[in-house]
Amino acid sequence: MITVNTGGTKLTEKYILSGKIQKKLRTAHDLLHGFDKSGGTGWVELPSEITKTELTTIKDYAKSIQDMCELFIVIGIGGSYAGANAGLEMLKKGNVKTEVIFLGTSFNAKEIQKALEQAKTKDVCVNVISKSGETTETAVTFHILEDFMKKKYKKGEYRKRIFVTTDYEKGSLREVATKEGYTSFVIPRTIGGRYSVFTPVGLLPLAVGGINIEKVIQGAKQAQGYCSELDVMQNPAYKYALTRYFIHTKCKKHLEVVASFDGRTKAFFEWFKQLFAESEGKDGKGLYVASLNYSTDLHSFGQFVQEGSPILFETIIDIKKQNADISLGKIKDSSPIAYLNGKSLVEIERATLNGVMEAHRQAGVPVVVIEMEEITEESFGEMLYFFMAACGMSAYLLGVNPFNQPGVEAYKQKTREILKQN
Ligand code: PA5
Repeated sequence: MITVNTGGTKLTEKYILSGKIQKKLRTAHDLLHGFDKSGGTGWVELPSEITKTELTTIKDYAKSIQDMCELFIVIGIGGSYAGANAGLEMLKKGNVKTEVIFLGTSFNAKEIQKALEQAKTKDVCVNVISKSGETTETAVTFHILEDFMKKKYKKGEYRKRIFVTTDYEKGSLREVATKEGYTSFVIPRTIGGRYSVFTPVGLLPLAVGGINIEKVIQGAKQAQGYCSELDVMQNPAYKYALTRYFIHTKCKKHLEVVASFDGRTKAFFEWFKQLFAESEGKDGKGLYVASLNYSTDLHSFGQFVQEGSPILFETIIDIKKQNADISLGKIKDSSPIAYLNGKSLVEIERATLNGVMEAHRQAGVPVVVIEMEEITEESFGEMLYFFMAACGMSAYLLGVNPFNQPGVEAYKQKTREILKQN
């Protein structure tokens, strides 16, 4: 189970138990767990609601995709790709025949050309993912890839190789899927993009990439259990959300830096940043979220964290068990690193982690530590759910709707207007 250590902050039990905070928590909890799912809370009970049959269907499609192709191109942006990308990076499976790559996160022609070059000599399947079915980056990339598939494969064949994940009836992508007869998957209306990783949006690419999605859901279900508790002491996601709120409103820190010593969290941090920034940053409110990868960033941003503008707090994701270690063995007394005699890399890393926390705390930076045992498929699912629950609570504490993104919609609209004019 994930635990949250707030020892490096000034959060007190008195604050947590105060009437005002308890009322805020109750209101936010009721909103997250309310019966009306139209607000975007369809993901809250999803892990326990997904049936074995639904998972088997996704696994069967994943198996047939693996049989059909060596290259699985997933087209999508934001919530339509970040979760699966995080999982495939974090859980890397070496023994899978089908490589999963992501496209559609930019208008970078070079990137698309590179993928097409790769696709020329390989058997390919494509999965286009868009809840709205109208996102320009996704539509443009799919247009190019669909054209490529139509040239590479005969009619009956390309149709078997293109998979569409979108709304059940709305949007241009649904129209295309129906017209062409592509196999399609549905993104429920009650689940927004960045909360959709436990739907086919995340599960299909993960399964094709060799991830055991049943275990991922198992982990999410575990988190769903403790995240349904109102009591902050029983619910680490709420504890984390409340700590963020406390640091933001009482300590006046407006920037959260998530950091980890584990390189496997890089893509996960991208998912995290999207989740929190898009859920909280509205109505002139919200914490700005950034991420750091230690040790690398200790030698650059570490300076800012220690001595720069006092605007930030740090959330360290501490993954206890590493997947490899090397012992330095015996080191001569005359060596400049004699103090490391007999130590292993994991031991040195842990000492560095403690050193970083102490130094940053002394500099007045509140440090929150999110602790987890190890990275597995189950713990990946648990982490995703944990942070979604924390994010929903955090946004409601701030008084914003976690499930809309009017700012993002505004840019999409403007872009279309500009392109239609010229
Ligand atoms: O979380 C969100 O809603 C967004 O990040 C969307 O996922 C992103 O804008 C892509 O939208 P769509 O899936 O409609 O193409």
